[in-house]
Amino acid sequence: MKELLDAIDLVGWSSTVAWLAEEDAQRLRAECEDRWESGAFRRAGVGRGEGLQVRDEIRQDHVLWIETAEPMVEQDGYLARLELLRLALNERFFLGLFAYEGHFAIYPQGAFYKAHLDRHSGTNHRVITTILYLNPDWQPGDGGELKLWTTAGEKSGDFVIIEPRMGTLVCFLAGDFWHEVLPTTKTRMSITGWFCQR
Ligand code: OGA
Ligand code: MN
Repeated sequence: MKELLDAIDLVGWSSTVAWLAEEDAQRLRAECEDRWESGAFRRAGVGRGEGLQVRDEIRQDHVLWIETAEPMVEQDGYLARLELLRLALNERFFLGLFAYEGHFAIYPQGAFYKAHLDRHSGTNHRVITTILYLNPDWQPGDGGELKLWTTAGEKSGDFVIIEPRMGTLVCFLAGDFWHEVLPTTKTRMSITGWFCQR
């Protein structure tokens, strides 16, 4: 946890391999697959409220929101760890993060999500983005990497490429860092979520 917090402090983003225990990640992966097969996912939209639209040219993932009020047992390990992270972020940075909202995401073969920020225009309640990847045996060449530009506010200059490997957790300041999901050649699974302020 300390390294993650130090990275957020220093550069505003972090990527941690094996952040979640293997068996917790596997349980989440299995749940994600089951719920996909039962048809619980919906095409993700762009914008919010009345303006929410499916826009194929921007993003092609399918999502299922996590019911944080009544989580499934498969999610307990991850949500407990996220809660520790939320408290640690508040303690260190006085962020006043009070809630978590998140969804499973599935990118079918060929899907992508073009460069964006995670804050809807005119809102600021999403403060920290967290992404947990659920892909065992990810290989170079499988695509679906996260490209994150590392200069706050800029969609140019230096960037990192992060492989969506099982158990890796990526965190960054939601309003500051441009990022995109490169086209994937295999089905790609993850949980994206945000710690929010009031
Ligand atoms: C998102 C997003 C990145 C990823 O859902 O907003 O940018 O690597 N996801 O899944
Ligand atoms: Mn995003």
